[in-house]
Amino acid sequence: MSYQNLLIADEGPVRLITINRPDQLNALNRATIDELDRALNDAEGDPSVRVLVLTGSGAKAFVAGADIKEFAHFSVEEGKALSADGHDKLFNHVERLNKPVIAAVNGFALGGGLELAMSCHFRVASETAKLGLPEVGLGVIPGYGGTQRLAQLVGKGKAMEMILLGSSGMIPAAEAQQWGLVNHVVPADQLLSTCMELASKIARNSPTALGAAIRAVNAGYEPGADGLQREIEEFGKCFGTADFKEGTGAFMEKRKAEFKGA
Ligand code: COA
Repeated sequence: MSYQNLLIADEGPVRLITINRPDQLNALNRATIDELDRALNDAEGDPSVRVLVLTGSGAKAFVAGADIKEFAHFSVEEGKALSADGHDKLFNHVERLNKPVIAAVNGFALGGGLELAMSCHFRVASETAKLGLPEVGLGVIPGYGGTQRLAQLVGKGKAMEMILLGSSGMIPAAEAQQWGLVNHVVPADQLLSTCMELASKIARNSPTALGAAIRAVNAGYEPGADGLQREIEEFGKCFGTADFKEGTGAFMEKRKAEFKGA
């Protein structure tokens, strides 16, 4: 599969997807969102891929936001469609993927960039990263899930403050870690190795259980869904999988489990 704006590299069971528009600070234009949609479908359908790491190309930016130049002349209807389409193809898609996705935040994660990082299952940032939602300074609001996911991750008060401050609300990685917005902060030259190591540890676990865990945790944040009920259902379904037989069998036989993801 070929991409104009993405680089794809596999290291064992871990797929690294790099958004590759460094001269535009990896801004998310519609072509890149379409490619990410395809790349996520491809990774989800490929049994050799068990965990994904998502990052941006170059030392400066993870993603500096939605592509302002592309949407600057949009109408109300086009703006609404841009947001809805983005939710569907990329942001909800990442969050609901049945394989874990780690955001390796290597620099500016602004607007749609922070929203993309927040759609990932968790985040690791380089010491140089800066995170923020500057949209109100452009006369618009976060439209790729930022108003909801930021409040879920850091609480309503902090989310409101960051969103209302716009570009003045941008925070460095260390503060983002204190907020719980990123899980780890590491020197820039250790970011990818840290993420790849975390990803390969995760990849040793049962793929079916990983997917079930993602669905159960997500259910707690879906309006109208009963998270504990979903947990009961997902937990029960695990008992019918070959991975469960392998995992419990390997424990009792005192050997390492070899999961097939079924
Ligand atoms: N959309 C489109 N292009 C973007 C972009 C975005 N969100 N962010 C950066 N770029 C482009 C710049 O236009 C510039 O392109 P050019 O050389 O063709 O003019 C290039 O990336 C480099 O950015 P530049 O602004 O020159 O770098 P800087 O170091 O001076 O500033 C930022 C870095 C991140 C502070 C600044 O680029 C910025 O504020 N970007 C927009 C952030 C934003 O508001 N995001 C939310 C969008 S909804």
